[in-house]
Amino acid sequence: MKVAFYGHVRQYHNIKAEIDANIQRVLESGEYVQGPMNKQFEQELAAFSGTKYAIGVGNGTDAIWLALMALGIGQGDEIITNANTFFATAEAIWITGATAVLVDCDPKTKCIDPAKIAAAITPKTKCIIPVHLYGQCADMPAIKKIADQHQLFIIEDNAQAIDAAGDTFKIGELSDAVATSFIIQKNLGTFGDSGAIVTNNEQINKGARLLRSHGSPARNVHSFGFNSRLDDIHAGVLSAKLKHIHEWNNQRIQWAARYTAGLQGAKSFDLPYATPGYRHVWHLYVIEAKTPAKRDAMVDFLVKNGIDAKTHYSIAIHRQPGFPWGKGARIVGALTNAEHNAASCISLPMFPELTAEEVDYVIATCKEMDAAFA
Ligand SMILES: Cc1ncc(COP(=O)(O)O)c(C=O)c1O
Repeated sequence: MKVAFYGHVRQYHNIKAEIDANIQRVLESGEYVQGPMNKQFEQELAAFSGTKYAIGVGNGTDAIWLALMALGIGQGDEIITNANTFFATAEAIWITGATAVLVDCDPKTKCIDPAKIAAAITPKTKCIIPVHLYGQCADMPAIKKIADQHQLFIIEDNAQAIDAAGDTFKIGELSDAVATSFIIQKNLGTFGDSGAIVTNNEQINKGARLLRSHGSPARNVHSFGFNSRLDDIHAGVLSAKLKHIHEWNNQRIQWAARYTAGLQGAKSFDLPYATPGYRHVWHLYVIEAKTPAKRDAMVDFLVKNGIDAKTHYSIAIHRQPGFPWGKGARIVGALTNAEHNAASCISLPMFPELTAEEVDYVIATCKEMDAAFA
């Protein structure tokens, strides 16, 4: 059997009529950039997120740096985030001219360790960017407490966790803004690139709307800005898919539970940790090789047996070429957990349209792998 890593085409076929109808509406409207479909999706996304505003932008990376720039953050400022994330989190900081200050993650959740943040704060620190990695919220109440003590902004990198929640908090409730990616691989993904900022903050709403469209408040008038807009065709796709995201995430939760039940007792790898009471939406189901030196051979074993296993992310930010990019980044403290995560992570196929047979085949093959590598 072959098990793919993504199910985009299956998902398209499941709701083809809804997606096609929205695309058709956009095509017939003659308005393709910041048109009615864009406005409709922004309203739907704000309602879904429980925030006053949603601002559609070109991609998730832009969503982060546009929110930062709207707050006036840039050269000379420092922003704290975790070292084990997709490169774009640090890249977005670097684009603003600020310095990315990287700290370690929690060994269990893989999200930023709040206990590591305080040591990284300097008079230049302006913001914390917690990443809700793999679909699970960071410990936002602890992060908010530190931010309030030091008067720091919080921008949540929510590229991987739309519709996730904590036990006592929702995404967006304890921060200044939330940056989301809708690239096709994400839980809510369009057929290409796009992203959004959701926020209750007037300054971010106003600033990001101007910055995303050439700094233009009115025709022919421009202040400083860029071009990073959410096209209406993508807005139409996303509007159709947003109606299904909660049930799709529920299905991911069920597949994750099936993996976790089926893989109990493995000797050669650890299973992912889900914080009790949190809604983890399983963007990725990541097991960790107990012996990192065996990880690549374990991935090869799965791939040779038809399973499209991957690694997220096998090179931590501080190990990327050119680090620290002039003064663009620095690290604070040991990054032991981030290093371990990079060296040991193995992502198993995870998408709502998997079948029970496919999930069971992955489980059976992982057990064979366990026997071979324990
Ligand atoms: C954690 C994280 N942050 C930011 C991004 C950037 O999003 P995009 O690729 O839409 O720019 C991604 C995904 O690609 C991501 O996984």
